[in-house]
Amino acid sequence: MEILYFILSLLLSLIVVAILIVSVVFIYFTVSAGFMRSSPSVPSCGRVKRAMLADAALYLSEKQNLLVMDLGSGWGSLLLPLAKEFPEHTFIGIEYAFIPYMVSCWRARKLKNLQFKRENFFESDISGTDIMFLFLLTSTMEKLSKKCIAEAKTGAIAYANRFPMQGKKPEKKVSFGSDYETYYIYKF
Ligand SMILES: C[S@@+](CC[C@H](N)C(=O)[O-])C[C@H]1O[C@@H](n2cnc3c(N)ncnc32)[C@H](O)[C@@H]1O
Repeated sequence: MEILYFILSLLLSLIVVAILIVSVVFIYFTVSAGFMRSSPSVPSCGRVKRAMLADAALYLSEKQNLLVMDLGSGWGSLLLPLAKEFPEHTFIGIEYAFIPYMVSCWRARKLKNLQFKRENFFESDISGTDIMFLFLLTSTMEKLSKKCIAEAKTGAIAYANRFPMQGKKPEKKVSFGSDYETYYIYKF
């Protein structure tokens, strides 16, 4: 009887561990583009977010019909305030991870000038983009920098939060202290 009880508890523990592992893997693949060994869906925040948005807003207020893209748009929190403030410009967020993408679509449901696409930004057409936002780990930035340098149109601007582009000198580095509170502005 004791042996049966032991086997049953062992089986139950194994089932619980299996469920935990499956849940962690599921969350990893849906909350971030994890299989690409890429950046987690951590949003830009604090002073860096406010400063990047203020800088982009100033630029947008002086121009007409621009295209703004967030490559790896996470939960959509960079494009949403800009799209609300500037209905005359077009905003596209590219996000591969399913849950952040779905949440972004829901948040943007009333905005005609903002759309989110569930795709791999390495395959996205960025040639018509006027402003880009990038917040990605160094390894991803390395590859994405090559794409931006090759495909961005002349005059386009990129804001890189925390992780600089590689192979391109920033026009400006804005720092509020540590690397965590630093962003870079590039002009193509
Ligand atoms: C650090 S978050 C940045 C979110 C947002 N740009 C911001 O600054 O608030 C990076 C996002 O990029 C997404 N991502 C990473 N690699 C991607 C790829 N190749 N294609 C599309 N999205 C990707 C991740 O899923 C993650 O949500």
